[in-house]
Amino acid sequence: MSPTEHAAAAGDSATDSGTDSGTDSGTDSGTAQWYRHFGTVDAPGSSPCYAAWAVGIAGDAELIRRIDQWPHKKRQPLLILAAARFLGAQVGPYREFRTFLDDHWAEVSEIVLSRSTQTNEAGRCATLLPSLAQISAAEGRPLALIEVGASAGLALFPDRYGYEFVGARADGPDGSGAGAAEAAEARTTRLAPAGATPGTFPVLHCLTSGPVPLPLPAKIPKVVWRAGIDLNPLDLHNPDDVAWLEALVWPEQEFRLERLRQAIAIAQERPPLLVAGDLNDQLLELAGRAPADAALVVFHSAVMAYLDAGGRSRFRRTMEDLAAERGCHWLSNEGHSVVTQADGSNVVPEMDDARLRGRFLLLQDGQPAAIAGPHGQSLEWL
Ligand SMILES: C[S@@+](CC[C@H](N)C(=O)[O-])C[C@H]1O[C@@H](n2cnc3c(N)ncnc32)[C@H](O)[C@@H]1O
Repeated sequence: MSPTEHAAAAGDSATDSGTDSGTDSGTDSGTAQWYRHFGTVDAPGSSPCYAAWAVGIAGDAELIRRIDQWPHKKRQPLLILAAARFLGAQVGPYREFRTFLDDHWAEVSEIVLSRSTQTNEAGRCATLLPSLAQISAAEGRPLALIEVGASAGLALFPDRYGYEFVGARADGPDGSGAGAAEAAEARTTRLAPAGATPGTFPVLHCLTSGPVPLPLPAKIPKVVWRAGIDLNPLDLHNPDDVAWLEALVWPEQEFRLERLRQAIAIAQERPPLLVAGDLNDQLLELAGRAPADAALVVFHSAVMAYLDAGGRSRFRRTMEDLAAERGCHWLSNEGHSVVTQADGSNVVPEMDDARLRGRFLLLQDGQPAAIAGPHGQSLEWL
């Protein structure tokens, strides 16, 4: 299985899924290995509960046998873990989780087979915002946004969230005390959506580092039109879809759950236009509906792993056509192993692979701009 297929099977960002591991854990004989890798490498830093559950499953031959009866792409650790939590499994020791699975196996199977990992992370707007602001400023026009692989469309509201960009110190941490707090404050850029009451929007925190190619925006760019495409758009007015989005957030990541709920509340007020279908089939027609007097930006995060090489090439060609015919901009925020460059390579030239591992590469109009935290938590300018 290729790394790309493996990533697609896992179906989410490196952090969310244990993708990019480089192991052969997705092969038929390797399901236990896949879970062990997830439980010992991917999960421990983010969720001790998921780490324990995945290690428990890896050592549970009977359960592995049952999981192996599902189609390959349904065996990914995150899917069964999220399905169980969707159905009410509580954070706790593996033995209780195992009992829960036994008691609810038919329902867990049904959820695994009918759902997929569609984690929708509003935090990614933090790593997109500087590029969006720069495009809008350079064009002197507000933005029209299309997100391909939009899930529920929460990343289509960069103008409705608040931001806190904190510049990293070049020479290490500040230490502690009042002076340190002042120093950190001096490196912080805060932005709030126009006219919004504090507390009614999530504030996205992002640590920035590296030589900033342009000043961080002084204000949030205006968005006059927004739309998304997804194979299966999630409906924020459907309680099951909302519960599924919540179940996809890892158990101990309360701040992400809080952020998700705040973003959902904003999107529920005026849901974006979401078109159901394959991004390659729908993009041109949707782009034709964007207002001509706005700067059109097509963007995507954690989506390209789902496409095979042919699908990604077709998408690249469409983006080239849209750039030529419509002046459309393109922001790609993806795990580096699935980013195909114009020269056919899939990593950034002259970059140590380890620097990118577990993080995303942000490309602006095909050019590497930054390495981004997979949930928008950091932005390292290139
Ligand atoms: C991991 S989610 C990421 C969602 C969103 N981009 C974000 O960053 O929060 C990937 C989404 O891509 C969608 N997707 C995968 N392949 C697609 C395709 N060929 N066309 C449209 N959507 C697709 C999936 O249904 C899923 O909702």
